[in-house]
Amino acid sequence: MSPQKTVLHVVGARPNFMKVAPVMDALRPDARIRQVLINTGQHYDESMAGGFLRELQLPTPDRDLGVGSASHAVQTARVMIAFEEVCAAERPDMVVVVGDVNSTMAASIVAAKLVIPLAHVEAGLRSFDKYMPEEVNRIVTDRLADVLLTPSSDANENLRAEGAPEAKIHLVGNVMIDTLRRHQPMAKLQRVRDRVPVGNGPYAVLTLHRPSNVDERDTLAGILKAVRGIAVQMPVVFPVHPRTRERLREFGLECDLGGAILTEPLGYLDFLALTSHASLILTDSGGLQEESTALGIPCLTLRENTERPVTVTHGTNRVVGTKTADILDGVQQALSSAPSGRMPELWDGHAAERIAKVLTDFLFA
Ligand code: UD1
Repeated sequence: MSPQKTVLHVVGARPNFMKVAPVMDALRPDARIRQVLINTGQHYDESMAGGFLRELQLPTPDRDLGVGSASHAVQTARVMIAFEEVCAAERPDMVVVVGDVNSTMAASIVAAKLVIPLAHVEAGLRSFDKYMPEEVNRIVTDRLADVLLTPSSDANENLRAEGAPEAKIHLVGNVMIDTLRRHQPMAKLQRVRDRVPVGNGPYAVLTLHRPSNVDERDTLAGILKAVRGIAVQMPVVFPVHPRTRERLREFGLECDLGGAILTEPLGYLDFLALTSHASLILTDSGGLQEESTALGIPCLTLRENTERPVTVTHGTNRVVGTKTADILDGVQQALSSAPSGRMPELWDGHAAERIAKVLTDFLFA
């Protein structure tokens, strides 16, 4: 038998874990492949990282780089320095990165410089907003990747427009939806009732963590004003990201949340339980826009743009911005009409199988 090929997967921040889990599962039966999991440690709180690794049944990472929080340059550089050593030791035949966080870009640069084939899961998404740190990460990663695995056809168009060769682009669908479908049967509301007193009526779920929303006092205060308006109509459950909690404290806005039910960041299953039974989702997260579309639940995106336009054209998402009146208008519109989304092409729970096929074809061509 020919020697095994080593595929090195990189995770680091909360939204990475649910994208890597199904890909590792899909590759596992192939005895020709040795999989190695590297955790950069960009996120390190139990509620942001460790809990997800276990709940999604990812293997214990082979290495934890422990980079932690820092400025963008420092965090990226720390991943690069540590990851270069990992590549030297593991000598991978391929590096697989997911999403658009700093760890994604840092590992991509290292792989490219070492001329290790690089595959990017969730390639081609663009917000066309360079003030968004993830947009820089997406552009750099896609420019360097040899295998571009896209979740939707708009991503293919973005890559073509940037001159990516057609042979590199593979429309595989949305791998996060694989994880969602697998866990949906376990996501009963009962499991969070002890921590989230929502009763039996309608409720909304809010998440906020983008620097553009939470690092500016006026923007954050405007959003919270809208939240108070919604909370008069129905409970608003708000699992608070660590960055947001710090800002609320720093800006003295903790008391401005009248009526909202605040919780710590929730685990994957608890959060899915909450969102899948919600009447409305308000968010600045990319992943949650996609999950709302998959769940058929109305979503208001509290940003000026989205890199996931398919959630608007096909799904249940509305991009409403961050002004109080616009958010409240969006709420009324969303609640006064039945959600009428349809599933984007290939968001069918089988994206990881298609990814595994593309990767093995590449590795054993
Ligand atoms: C990062 C990603 C973002 C993703 C988000 C999901 C980048 C540029 N941003 O943003 O794309 O949507 O993760 O959460 O990669 N902190 C903790 N504990 C942790 C992690 C962070 O307390 O486990 C606090 C620290 O104060 C830290 C701050 O949160 O400075 C921000 O963390 P960081 O990883 O820099 O960015 P996120 O805002 O989480």
